[in-house]
Amino acid sequence: MGLKIACIGAGYVGGPTMAMIALKCPEIEVVVVDINEARIAAWNTDKLPIYEPGLLEVVQTARGRNLFFSTDVNKHVGEADIVFVSVNTPTKTRGVGAGKAADLTYWEGAARVIASVSTKSKIIVEKSTVPVKTADAIEKVLRRNCTDPNVQFEILSNPEFLAEGTAIEDLTMPDRVLIGGKDTESGRAAIATLASVYEHWVPKDRILCTNLWSAELSKLTANAMLAQRISSVNSISALCEATGADVQQVSRAIGTDSRIGSKFLNASVGFGGSCFQKDILNLVYICETVGLAEVANYWQQVILMNDYQKQRFVERVISAMFNTIKQKKIAVYGFAFKKDTGDTRETPAIDVCRGLMADGANLCVYDPQVEASQIYQDLGTEKFEWDHPSPRSRPIAKSAIDIAMDPVSAANGAHGICIMTEWDEFKHYDYEALYESMVKPAFIFDGRNILDHAKLREIGFIVYALGKPLDPFLQKHYD
Ligand code: NAD
Ligand code: UDX
Repeated sequence: MGLKIACIGAGYVGGPTMAMIALKCPEIEVVVVDINEARIAAWNTDKLPIYEPGLLEVVQTARGRNLFFSTDVNKHVGEADIVFVSVNTPTKTRGVGAGKAADLTYWEGAARVIASVSTKSKIIVEKSTVPVKTADAIEKVLRRNCTDPNVQFEILSNPEFLAEGTAIEDLTMPDRVLIGGKDTESGRAAIATLASVYEHWVPKDRILCTNLWSAELSKLTANAMLAQRISSVNSISALCEATGADVQQVSRAIGTDSRIGSKFLNASVGFGGSCFQKDILNLVYICETVGLAEVANYWQQVILMNDYQKQRFVERVISAMFNTIKQKKIAVYGFAFKKDTGDTRETPAIDVCRGLMADGANLCVYDPQVEASQIYQDLGTEKFEWDHPSPRSRPIAKSAIDIAMDPVSAANGAHGICIMTEWDEFKHYDYEALYESMVKPAFIFDGRNILDHAKLREIGFIVYALGKPLDPFLQKHYD
């Protein structure tokens, strides 16, 4: 065996990225460590802790060969030549910067462990998304806590750009791998070592090397720019509804301009996921702390528009249903923040469900991948508290919301169906049969624009399609 790699954090990033490195570099030993015993135990079975298409096959090929999952953090970090740190960096929930700044508790904890168990020099790789300049802080923690004077740490920033649901595809053929490091002899050597790992399968011209701060800031900027596109197109979706334009036609028309590009222009009920909001808030906080109020306000607007979009959707549902949804059953199709994942972090479905419940609706949620317990937890926990539920968090009463095991029972007796996630299977249901089982008039609110709206109207549904000309029925009751 050649190099030894340890990765601290066996989550959505640590698990798949390390599995890919192990798959492509059979001579490198890769051990993913975590303090969460249940998570590690699941990685060692075929019921992995996260759902990601193609991941199980990759894990099965490498696991036991050169890929291992363990809770023995000290041993494997101590033995490693390269330590990736892929711990969670959520938004701070209390204290200075609460609600915006990144909480680096886990990162600092990982750094202290690395320092305390290191008896040989190591490359430390920031895989987590962190505020710009974090490497500086981490270096101080490492240096001041390692008692062995012969141990040197070289810190690199190597942010991860995979998206959930397509992680394996993204890792197999990344647009780029970004490595930031110091422009010193040892810094350049560390960059070369890490690059040599990726060069097993990533073409050299896709491995970009920058200074540390550029790499750290590029990650926040990439997520902010992607989210900004969605908020921009979502803002236009509201204008489309007011004017009779069609947001999908507008997206197609502007996306063919090669300067704009066609990706990430799908209007939606709002973006979700663990990264976009957190990273923009982080960016906003950094701007505020360096006195750039205008820059901070500019990016904050991306989040405000996202909140507006979710609120607007809730208001459409209520107004369409004659301004009252009290005790009306509404089927919610999809709870994950996007298709092909079971992840619900920051999913727009949380805010939409809460909005509908606040108006007295009886919700029945169906999602092909999300566990019922997760839905109850998400709807019963205060915003920003998913990582640290506080005593104020109340688990939601199970009677307040139903979870269906199939789409048919979710729609049975419902007044409306809300599409929250773009799961492919939603496109292929027998909507005639669903219509028959529903209370009339039966409504469909397509928050992802994935259904055949003309066909649904033929069946008899009143259809709200986001950013599209409104049905006369909806116009009458909304205006
Ligand atoms: P996650 O919560 O799924 O996983 C983090 C893991 O780290 C947890 O299992 C936790 O138990 C473990 N951990 C925390 N402190 C530890 C310690 N001291 N020792 C051992 N284990 C510890 O998080 P994630 O979604 O994988 O995200 C990790 C980082 O990657 C975040 O900074 C995130 O912003 C970034 N990121 C996430 C994505 C994504 O799609 N989820 C994409 C790119 C970047
Ligand atoms: C994102 C970034 O894409 C990825 O590079 C980074 O590493 C992590 O954050 P992820 O959150 O997993 O990835 O998924 P992504 O595909 O970016 O979708 C985020 C949210 O935006 C989802 O809720 C999705 O439904 C929504 N979205 C995406 C839209 O509403 N419209 C679009 O056109 C694209």
